Amino acid sequence: EQHDVTLTANLKETGPLLHKDIYGQFAEHLGRGIYEGIYVGPDSDIPNTKGFRNDVLNALRAIKVPLVRWPGGCFADEYHWRDGIGDPDKRPVKVNTHWGGVEETNAVGTHEIFDFIELLGADAYINGNLGSGSVREMAEWVEYMTSDKNSTLANERRKNGREEPWDIAYFGIGNESWGCGGHMSPEYYVDLYNQYATFIKTPPGKKPKLVGSGGHTEDTEWTDVLSANIERNMSGISYHFYTLPNSDWQNKGHATEFNNDDWFATMERTYRMDDYLKANIAKLDKNDPEGKIGLYVDEWGTWYDPEPGREPGFLYQQNTLRDAVVTAVNFNLFNKYAERVHMTNIAQMVNVLQAMVLTDGADMLVTPTYHVFGMYKVFQDATAIPFTIDSDVYQHGEKQLPAVTASLAKGTDGHVYLALVNLDPENEASIALNFSNANFSKLTGELLTHDAMTAKNTFEHKEVVKPVSFSASLSDLTLPAKSVLVGRLQ
Ligand code: AHR
Repeated sequence: EQHDVTLTANLKETGPLLHKDIYGQFAEHLGRGIYEGIYVGPDSDIPNTKGFRNDVLNALRAIKVPLVRWPGGCFADEYHWRDGIGDPDKRPVKVNTHWGGVEETNAVGTHEIFDFIELLGADAYINGNLGSGSVREMAEWVEYMTSDKNSTLANERRKNGREEPWDIAYFGIGNESWGCGGHMSPEYYVDLYNQYATFIKTPPGKKPKLVGSGGHTEDTEWTDVLSANIERNMSGISYHFYTLPNSDWQNKGHATEFNNDDWFATMERTYRMDDYLKANIAKLDKNDPEGKIGLYVDEWGTWYDPEPGREPGFLYQQNTLRDAVVTAVNFNLFNKYAERVHMTNIAQMVNVLQAMVLTDGADMLVTPTYHVFGMYKVFQDATAIPFTIDSDVYQHGEKQLPAVTASLAKGTDGHVYLALVNLDPENEASIALNFSNANFSKLTGELLTHDAMTAKNTFEHKEVVKPVSFSASLSDLTLPAKSVLVGRLQ
């Protein structure tokens, strides 16, 4: 069976900017996400720059990571920035209570993470500690990072090796304040946000976009209460949603062993992002009709059962073609709602949850998810072209999903790019492009797929899932089952 899909667009029309930060990533002090994953220290035998692995840096540079969120997650609300500055040998060793109860040496602190972000050529999203910190601690951290004056704090930064202030693109006021960040009500959080945000002061023009800690999954109350009541400057409200195949935190589902039913369940769960974004955006439209407040999906991705034999608190999981398809489905949704969704962060960058990179000692591999980030980099800062899509459904028993979703945009290089994902693991799709004001005959780019839905890259076989070149005439455009395609129209 073949699905019929028609995309209709007037290529003269323009939609919202697809902000490059939609393709952001999250790096928490969790498991081997920071230590081993990106940081091995300057004395390591693993080739590194300022302690950061060259292999991982090069891989991440190749997909143009625009934004890195740090230090958490739940970790952020227990992080005290003073623990992570000054002589690394004298930094206090803490217990990472959220993630495996392991020792946190604080070897990576503010200076180191900005080194990493600068080596990547990315921007910084720093998440402040609202849950167990203080107004003064947060205000002083921001002063330490951004002040250009001769204040004692700015001079301490200089003494620690950094003359110029850093730029902070986004600053989060707490994380998951409904849960690990303090188990608050949204009303209580509103008052705290106003109080904390009042004291975040920077030199003119250096103010980060401030992020309110919002809700998750089907909840819309946090978006509603925050957008209706926060009086201090707030650029956006965070929102978290994870793809658990079984939608059950006690039995999430296996990362690499799954069948057609699990595949559908995963797609069904991930596609709820559509309704959840719509519902949250409806609250924003009501409370902020001028469209000033963004919806920042600063944690998203697949979350499976821990791998047997590994520390469960490290959240290490493998990554298959299914994760690649999940990535493209989410990107197409973020692009669809880009009017409000200006920034997102996949959880997480290396060795944790839906990672781009997995490491094993000195070895590393890139995952199917990594490749989708690479393929979609043409959409960073592109201008969306509005379209409608008429797609047959991907039917599974009584349930159904769209078989194909898409993104269409004019890139910063002036070319028009089309992304297509086929959610159906069994049936290919025939794609008709009904474009006006366009004169294209070919689509050229990259295709990611595999015969096996469970295909993955391992340390023994690193290139099982990787994109291949693709070129097809528009009169004969077929999208294989369970595939992601990104191409330039010619
Ligand atoms: O990404 C892992 C954790 O998931 C984060 O620390 C937390 O914010 C969320 O619950």
